[in-house]
Amino acid sequence: MKKTVITGTGRFLPNWRVTNQELTKFMDTSDEWIRQRTGIKQRYWTPLEGGVGASDLGVESAKIAVDRAGWKPEDIDLIIFATLSPDLFFPGSGCLLQHKMGLKNTPALDIRQQCTGFLYGLELADAYIKSGLAKKILFVGAEVQSAILDISTRGRNMAVIFGDGAGAACIEGLDTDEQVGILGSALHSDGETAESLMMEAPSCRLKPPIDNKLMEQGRHFPSMNGKLIFKKAVQLLPKVTNEVLEKAGLVLEDIDLIIPHQANIRINQAYARAMNLAEDKIYHNIQDYGNTTAASIPLALDEAIEKNQVGKGKTVLFLGLGAGITWGAVIYRFPE
Ligand code: UT7
Repeated sequence: MKKTVITGTGRFLPNWRVTNQELTKFMDTSDEWIRQRTGIKQRYWTPLEGGVGASDLGVESAKIAVDRAGWKPEDIDLIIFATLSPDLFFPGSGCLLQHKMGLKNTPALDIRQQCTGFLYGLELADAYIKSGLAKKILFVGAEVQSAILDISTRGRNMAVIFGDGAGAACIEGLDTDEQVGILGSALHSDGETAESLMMEAPSCRLKPPIDNKLMEQGRHFPSMNGKLIFKKAVQLLPKVTNEVLEKAGLVLEDIDLIIPHQANIRINQAYARAMNLAEDKIYHNIQDYGNTTAASIPLALDEAIEKNQVGKGKTVLFLGLGAGITWGAVIYRFPE
């Protein structure tokens, strides 16, 4: 039976490095508040004047991943694109990326799982590969969130957190009897709390989907009940960890590194305390990139591979919770 393995990763960040200090030009905030409450020191944003979409960042990360996997773009038989900040309302960014990769007919599927895009994407890729429906799948998580943030003081609770960026992974089947690849996954959603983290307009349930009144009310900017999302993450992430470990027939000690979604360093620290984990078992890079939503986990994976923190024979647990709300975990073991 084929095992689903990751054979190449890549990441890409836009040029503009936005420090906490730089944000004080736009809103009433401080480096001290941002570091203490979130752990973030800087993030990368696309230019304020626009012109760069999620597929533009995504394609750069994809080219690196494809090259490292030893693939040619024509080898890809499915693209999965995860984003909450698509280039266009429709069609999906996956189609735009497909064209930018120089491809002609390759199917492209957009998924809208926000911070858990990589987790849902991995489970989906695993099913496609094990069923024989696809052989080589390109996953891309990319965000241009700076374009939709309210960077005035009104929107500061969200604006200071979110960053732009992209992370990609080449996923394929490997014929082996070894216990490697995706060893287990556990995914969930709870739409009851959908409106606690959302961007409401433009929306097809509003007619017109956007107008001046909506914009004056700021309903075209994302909104978040930060305290509720924080509480949900701290409650649900330990639970889903135990669930996925049980599904994979593993215990926490079998995991070499946990790569969580980077939403707030305090969430990951609370998780470490709840699971009784040493801090160095958890990968952090929120300080450098902020919360890059669908790009966050693949970007962190690419960095952890580069730093040799994971690789041959190592077992990783990916984990996250975000808008939807959706949450989940996936366990992955690198082949030797
Ligand atoms: O990836 C998607 C999932 N999202 C998350 O996981 C986010 C989870 N939530 C959080 O990370 C935190 O709730 C935040 C970092 C968003 C906010 O931290 P908090 O400790 O919950 O702060 P708060 O919203 O309760 O605000 C506390 C105070 C308020 O002032 P008053 O009312 O106490 O005077 C805010 O107006 O901090 C103020 N504040 C700020 N001050 C300076 C809010 N944002 C800022 C800011 N700079 N950027």
